[in-house]
Amino acid sequence: MAFKNLKLRQVSLLISLTVATVSGIALCAEDMVDGWSFQAYMVVIPLILLVTTFPIAHYFVDLFIYRRIKILYKLVSTEKGRKELKNSALQEEDDFLQAVEEEVRRYSTSKQSEIQALKRMETYRKEFIGNVSHELKTPIFNAQGYIETLLDGGMEDREVNIKYLEKATRNLDRLANIVEDLIMLNQYETDSTQLDTQFFDITELTKQVIDEQELLASKKNIELVIKEDAGFQRKVFADRKHIHHVLSNLVNNSIKYGHENGLTKIGFYDVEDKLLIEVSDNGPGIANEHLARLFERFYRVDKARSRGHGGTGLGLAICKHIVEAHKEKIHVRSSLDVGTTFGFTLSTRALEK
Ligand SMILES: Nc1ncnc2c1ncn2[C@@H]1O[C@H](COP(=O)(O)OP(=O)(O)OP(=O)(O)O)[C@@H](O)[C@H]1O
Ligand SMILES: [Mg+2]
Repeated sequence: MAFKNLKLRQVSLLISLTVATVSGIALCAEDMVDGWSFQAYMVVIPLILLVTTFPIAHYFVDLFIYRRIKILYKLVSTEKGRKELKNSALQEEDDFLQAVEEEVRRYSTSKQSEIQALKRMETYRKEFIGNVSHELKTPIFNAQGYIETLLDGGMEDREVNIKYLEKATRNLDRLANIVEDLIMLNQYETDSTQLDTQFFDITELTKQVIDEQELLASKKNIELVIKEDAGFQRKVFADRKHIHHVLSNLVNNSIKYGHENGLTKIGFYDVEDKLLIEVSDNGPGIANEHLARLFERFYRVDKARSRGHGGTGLGLAICKHIVEAHKEKIHVRSSLDVGTTFGFTLSTRALEK
């Protein structure tokens, strides 16, 4: 494309050449100046016109096209770090149009991806608000219902009053849990949580989590064990409070969703300078199609069942944020009717904060 990268001088020359040629031909055809030879029409007049129209064309092209393009160029290249390119390109007239073209292309591509990211965020935001309102609505309406029944005379009935008050309290506890989880998730998503990293013994923390969940496990006769060979101290460098949250949710899930008389094992495996921590159960397992979405906010495999357990589907999303805040990874593998294993890594070396 010969005309694609024309420069200011070339554009002006082209215009003046066109004017000169057209006028030469027109004058010749019209035979406008008496006594002038054919050569005069075809050579002298076009030459004079060429010389005179060139600076005029140059001036107007510069005024009406180049200066405006320069303004547009300045507008699209206001991003930080582009200033140097902008100034040098503006001085070098020869590369100017090409630089503008490249800059506008870059600008358009970056705007396109920004628009797409904003659209994705907007869909995400709508879904999130829908989910939050739905989750909050249930316990609020339930508690409201129990309290209204009590006010409508239920208070006098000794059979009903304690039961309804307990049910209202349970719903309010659930509400408090959801709000707490949402606050925590929000802190992670806005990066406003500072990790308090230190060396601590993960075996000791796991024993603590087992003690805390023992009562819940005993109700389903589920056994919680640390795999053999895990008896000795294993130091990891992480935020103890947050890792406590991760382990609690994983062990809690294995109990909530596990079979009666089941078994949950927690194992530790050295992987170079990291420790892999795995929580495995012999529960019902999770079908393949759910695995990829399991760490999404509010995602539940069986909504009715998990809600029955008091679950909001925020637990694994929070775990993922916590593990990723440590710059580590969390994963899941599962087989239906065999069981589920969640694993995450932690560093065994001190990391920069
Ligand atoms: N060990 C497991 N076995 C089978 N299903 C599981 C297991 N762990 C998680 N799930 C499924 O994954 C879903 C998401 O778990 P997650 O911990 O995020 O939420 P939750 O337990 O429902 O609620 P929360 O943890 O907020 O109380 C659960 O609802 C459940 O369907
Ligand atoms: Mg959970």
